[in-house]
Amino acid sequence: MDRILTYNDVVMPAFMYGTAWKKEQTARLVELAVDSGFTGIDTANQLIHYQEALVGEALLALAKKGVKRESLFLQTKFTSVSGQDHRTPYDQSADLTTQVQQSFKSSLKHLHTDYLDSYVLHGPHSRWGLNQADWDVWAAMEEYYRVGTTKMIGISNVQADQLQELCEKAAVKPMVVQNRCYAVMGWDKEVREICKAQGIIYQGFSLLTANQDVLRDPQVWEIAKRVGANPLQVIFRFALQIGMLPLTGTTNGQHMRDDLEVLTKFELSTDDVQKIESIGI
Ligand SMILES: NC(=O)c1ccc[n+]([C@@H]2O[C@H](COP(=O)([O-])OP(=O)(O)OC[C@H]3O[C@@H](n4cnc5c(N)ncnc54)[C@H](OP(=O)(O)O)[C@@H]3O)[C@@H](O)[C@H]2O)c1
Repeated sequence: MDRILTYNDVVMPAFMYGTAWKKEQTARLVELAVDSGFTGIDTANQLIHYQEALVGEALLALAKKGVKRESLFLQTKFTSVSGQDHRTPYDQSADLTTQVQQSFKSSLKHLHTDYLDSYVLHGPHSRWGLNQADWDVWAAMEEYYRVGTTKMIGISNVQADQLQELCEKAAVKPMVVQNRCYAVMGWDKEVREICKAQGIIYQGFSLLTANQDVLRDPQVWEIAKRVGANPLQVIFRFALQIGMLPLTGTTNGQHMRDDLEVLTKFELSTDDVQKIESIGI
């Protein structure tokens, strides 16, 4: 269960390590995550929340220890001007195709690599529909997929109607979606259902931070006790069993190992999964 296959036949890890908000600790934590067993790393070329260059520093240190680039799955994002501060990795006055090209090139440089495993659009320009700017950015990303400098392309922070439209009209539909999951929204059920129908991998983030009520729920504690896990592990296992690829943002080595343990340590029954699905709705 520790590997999954995308619709375009890329093998990717079933659980990924997220590097948002790690600041100057980013390099140390990425190294620790890989040493702890993570092979998938998520970042973004967006200095407000991520230190992509420090992810790259960790990769250099790991390479010195014999960790090969091909053994890792590197995912980064293009973030448009509205998601950036003044430190954009591109010329803000350039057209969008050029912005994507400059951001992509800078990501490769930061990560000391000549290809990405996954390149993700951090989010459409608006919450409502897709506009010409989104199509321009997507077309520029598709080009990197066509020439093979990224094995996959994807989209984040996407609404169900936007994803549906992208799948219908894009030359290359996304291989991956990355969204925040709230239990009260059925764990993003509408978007997950489109992903399932289209064969798109759904990556869920803030599974713990966005669902503190679920973590406190006595039913989750009861399940955790029965399967010999802690409630956080139960949530990650639940995510896996409903077909998600979870992201964790832990900063702790023991928690990294605890999180990865859910891939193999225990299973939830159908009844457990249904119980968790109904909490908060
Ligand atoms: N696309 C986007 O717009 C977007 C937005 C947000 C996030 N993301 C991605 O998703 C990643 C994860 O997001 P997140 O940081 O919100 O994830 P998260 O895993 O839901 O939250 C991290 C928190 O959970 C705790 N935690 C994790 N495993 C634990 C364990 N086994 N035991 C106890 N505590 C545990 C961590 O505490 P400790 O540090 O003490 O373990 C930390 O406080 C980000 O790093 C980023 O890559 C993407």
